[in-house]
Amino acid sequence: MDETEVFGWKITKFIKNTNYDFVRKQILSVCGEDNVDDALNLISNWENYNSTPLLELNKLSKKLNLNNIFYKDESKRFHLKSFKALGGAYAVEKVTKGNKSVTVATATAGNHGRSVSWGAQRLGLNCKIFISEFVSDARAEVMRNLGADVIRIKGNYEASLKECINQSQKYGWQIIQDVAWEGYEEVPKLTMAGYSVMIKEISDQTDQYITHVFLQAGVGGMASGSIAGIAKYFKRIPKIIIVEPESADCVLKSVEAGVMKKIDIKKESIMGGMSCGEVSLVPWRILKNSVNNCISISDENIAKTVAMLEKKHLSDEKIIGGECATPGVISLIAACEDEYIKKDLELDKNSNVLLMGCEGDADQDLYKKLLNEGAKQLI
Ligand SMILES: Cc1ncc(COP(=O)(O)O)c(C=O)c1O
Repeated sequence: MDETEVFGWKITKFIKNTNYDFVRKQILSVCGEDNVDDALNLISNWENYNSTPLLELNKLSKKLNLNNIFYKDESKRFHLKSFKALGGAYAVEKVTKGNKSVTVATATAGNHGRSVSWGAQRLGLNCKIFISEFVSDARAEVMRNLGADVIRIKGNYEASLKECINQSQKYGWQIIQDVAWEGYEEVPKLTMAGYSVMIKEISDQTDQYITHVFLQAGVGGMASGSIAGIAKYFKRIPKIIIVEPESADCVLKSVEAGVMKKIDIKKESIMGGMSCGEVSLVPWRILKNSVNNCISISDENIAKTVAMLEKKHLSDEKIIGGECATPGVISLIAACEDEYIKKDLELDKNSNVLLMGCEGDADQDLYKKLLNEGAKQLI
C-alpha cells in the first residue's frame, strides 16, 4: 500500500450514545455470568478447539498513524469459517444435552445455521434449517453437507423465522435461534455467551490495552456477546463502536432514539449476515447503555477491502475475510479520514484498535466474486 494513499472513504452516519453507562455487573447479568463461564469451559474442551489468531494490521496502522490494529481472524474458527461456530453449536449442546430424540430447528442467513447444523451433527441429532430467498445456494449446500434438512422460504429472513417457528410448534422441534423475542430468551443468551469466548481469547493473546473496538451488528448478538466478554475479561473498558450497513442500521436508529426501532429494509446489503431490520431483545438490553457510538456504511468498499486483506495491503499475512469481515476495516479507515469523527473517537497514535474479522470465505462463490472485483480496483 502506498504510504501517501488517501482512500476517500465515507461513513454514512455517525452518532454518539447519550445513554452511555457501562456497568459490568449489569451487562453480565443480562446474558448470565454463569452462561459466560460455562461457554468457556465447554467450548474450550471441544475436540480441535484452538484460539483463532489475533493478527495485526501493521501496514494499515502505520498508514492511519495508530499504535496498533488487531484483527481477530474468525475465518479459522473450527472448520466453519465464522465466529458463529461458537454460538449455535454451544446452544444445541446445552439445550438438548445430547438427547438424540430431539430435533433442532433454526432460521438463518447462513452462518448461524451452519453452527447449529454442526452442533446437531456432532451430537447425532436431526436438524431443520430455514433460509430466505436471499441465502445463496453455496451456503445452503454447506448446511446440507453437515447433515441438515434445508428448507427455503419465499421472502426475507423474517419470513424464514416465522416459518421456522410455525413448523417447530407443529412438529415439536426445539428452536435454536440466536434472535430473542418476548418469551424466547434463554437460547439467545446461550449463543451470546458462546461469542464471549472470542474476547477471553483476545485477553490472553495480547498484553496491550485495547482502546477501541469496532463491533459489527446484525441483530446484535455478536456485539452484545462480545461486550459481555469485555465486561468479564478486559481490565479497561475500550470505546465500543457498532458498525452496520446503511440499509439495515437498526442498532444505530435504536440507540439514537433510546428505544428499539424497527427498520424497513429497502435494499439487502451484500453483508447478508448483517442485513437485519430489528435488534434482538436480549442484546438490546446490553447495547443500549454500553456502546459509545454507532456507525453505518455503504456496500461501496467491501470488494476492495476483501482484496486488500487478501493481497497483504493491510498486514504481512494474507487474510481471508468475507463480506462481514470488512465493515470494521472500512469504518476505521473512513473514521480516520474524517477529522471530526477521528477527534470525537479519540483515535490517535496511542490507539490500540480491535477489529472483528467475523468470517472467512464462508460463501465461497460470493467471496471469489468480491475478491476479483476488488482486485481490479486495486490496480
Ligand atoms: C457473518 C456474520 N453474520 C452475522 C453477523 C451479525 O451478527 P448478529 O446478528 O449476532 O449481530 C455478523 C457480524 O456482525 C457476521 O459477521
